[in-house]
Amino acid sequence: MTTIRSLSKLRAGVIGTGFIGPVHIEALRRLGVPVTALCDVPERVQAAADRLMIPRALSDYRELLRSPDVDVVHITAPNRYHAEMSLAALKAGKHVVCEKPLAMNTRETAAIVKAARRRGTVFAVNYNVRFYPAVLQLRRAVANGELGEIIHVNGSYFQDWLFKETDYNWRLLPSEGGKLRAVADVGTHWMDTASFILGAKITSVFADLVTFHQTRKRPLGEVQTFARAQTKVKYATYKVATEDFANVLLQFSNGVRGNLGVSQVAAGRKNCIRLEIYGSKKSAWWCSEDPEMLHFGHRDGANQTAVRATPAFGDGATGFMDYPPGHVEGFPDTFKMLFRNIYSTIAAGSTGERLFATAEDGHQEVAVCEAIMMSHHSKRWIKV
Ligand SMILES: NC(=O)c1ccc[n+]([C@@H]2O[C@H](COP(=O)([O-])OP(=O)(O)OC[C@H]3O[C@@H](n4cnc5c(N)ncnc54)[C@H](O)[C@@H]3O)[C@@H](O)[C@H]2O)c1
Repeated sequence: MTTIRSLSKLRAGVIGTGFIGPVHIEALRRLGVPVTALCDVPERVQAAADRLMIPRALSDYRELLRSPDVDVVHITAPNRYHAEMSLAALKAGKHVVCEKPLAMNTRETAAIVKAARRRGTVFAVNYNVRFYPAVLQLRRAVANGELGEIIHVNGSYFQDWLFKETDYNWRLLPSEGGKLRAVADVGTHWMDTASFILGAKITSVFADLVTFHQTRKRPLGEVQTFARAQTKVKYATYKVATEDFANVLLQFSNGVRGNLGVSQVAAGRKNCIRLEIYGSKKSAWWCSEDPEMLHFGHRDGANQTAVRATPAFGDGATGFMDYPPGHVEGFPDTFKMLFRNIYSTIAAGSTGERLFATAEDGHQEVAVCEAIMMSHHSKRWIKV
């Protein structure tokens, strides 16, 4: 059994200091893992290192990979860099935590899977939603038959930060984020979470994609994730080739059927992942905007709401919660718990229970994305 103390012997290096890089750094520090080096583009990196109090600021990620005081590399740069950086980090003998989606297409993700298997170091994809206590509890409830036989699952991942035609981010460009946007960016979180809970893969999809803003206005200059449009900004109009909204029908390997909605133009929904699981005994549902509450639905009796870390909630998340009930654990805590699981696995020589998403899981999600794209164009069911 690995003690948490041994985690601090591992040292991290982080590539990318935009929105999510600092979330990684904060979670690592909460675990006592030192972050010894930071990498970003030359014009950003020193200011970021000063702000985040990291000793070494590097503007070439290959230099970070050569650093002997970096054991685990966190890749939090935009999607188009994931494959190149992952393959180079594996080649350098590092353990890797790569942000989702794993890469731009299955050619790239397959190469990462192959390299990760060959190298044998730990490779994780940052599907952090798995580590909400309610998600871990739902997984337990499905596995032990508490809900009965699962009939269907339903849910959505809705956001509004790309609601306006002037909202801009690199994700809107296929060359930066990939051909699918909303589905690859947040839809894969939902699909990974549903597969994790059900213990089953998505095998077939039927999809309809909608681009509400056919053209958008791009502010001249750089814009960060979740940044708000400002007045007095000059814009250039461009055609949008990625979807704002998706409807996806799903079939899982265990026969369960699902339907998923994904939107980045849903006014008022800031970052809302919602999952409902319908079984032959009862149903259960959860939403990330109210993360402490797990709801159970009954045909005859009264429906129930269980608060995290109480006996009514169940013990499926034991070991993945640090605070008592009423002391909310949310988005940043999922990173802490995910990294604890990854770093414990590394420290234990890969013998710990792996709950994190692997390179294979990341590859599977990108394969589902490609099937969704194909289904949208051919207007039929596509096997993954
Ligand atoms: N798991 C989650 O909940 C979650 C949330 C947000 C983003 N993400 C993922 O994290 C990644 C980054 O997203 P973000 O929202 O932080 O983007 P961002 O644009 O806010 O930050 C990206 C950073 O990478 C830097 N960068 C660009 N090219 C680089 C290079 N060649 N070398 C080093 N640094 C480089 C940029 O300068 C920027 O600081 C994406 O893959 C995204 O899908 C995951």
